[in-house]
Amino acid sequence: MERGTLLSIAGPSGCGKSTLLHLLGGVDRPTTGSVTILGHRTDALGDAALARIRLRHVGFVFQRFFLLPMLTAEENVALPMMEARVPAAERRRRGRALLERVGLGDRMRHRPGQLSGGEMQRVAIARAIANHPDLLLADEPTGELDEATGREVGGLLRALSRDGIAVVLVTHNPDLAALADRQVRMRDGVLA
Ligand SMILES: Nc1ncnc2c1ncn2[C@@H]1O[C@H](COP(=O)(O)OP(=O)(O)OP(=O)(O)O)[C@@H](O)[C@H]1O
Ligand SMILES: [Mg+2]
Repeated sequence: MERGTLLSIAGPSGCGKSTLLHLLGGVDRPTTGSVTILGHRTDALGDAALARIRLRHVGFVFQRFFLLPMLTAEENVALPMMEARVPAAERRRRGRALLERVGLGDRMRHRPGQLSGGEMQRVAIARAIANHPDLLLADEPTGELDEATGREVGGLLRALSRDGIAVVLVTHNPDLAALADRQVRMRDGVLA
């Protein structure tokens, strides 16, 4: 994957799409073969070093958003920055800019329960890019959204890739897959 590119992955349930994202993002290590992130082979790194790479360089977006319900949009976006020890003033500044970037400048104080599905996913995307990752991994991010909202989220991911992030999008939706620079299919654990 190069910065600025969007790759889409499709394939039947159980073929290994989520597993591949976990390998690419350094959540799992491969039992055979190797994954290299920014010149670092993940199998050669210890857990702490791998966690640092994930925190600084990789963002994840999931079908089910995984926002913390008690926190506002702004506080959800601040979480990975707290983990990265970004000072409070910078967290607030960046959090506002990120939520504006995803079109939610007027929803910063809302909690997830007060947001629509598309809005929740946009908060989750803002959270995923809070530490300026080089790689953004999205696992069926529009699976819970209606078609129009899914298109918006797809367009946002496309725009983020144009800003210079490498984006991997797992999707069953051919219209979303068509946004990609490169489309691949998986079958039984193998890229077709
Ligand atoms: N942590 C794990 N340990 C062992 N096997 C696993 C693990 N996670 C997934 N698997 C198995 O690996 C295969 C691929 O699973 P994976 O979740 O990657 O599929 P997927 O393509 O994402 O499917 P879906 O479209 O349903 O999300 C499945 O057979 C699954 O049961
Ligand atoms: Mg999956």
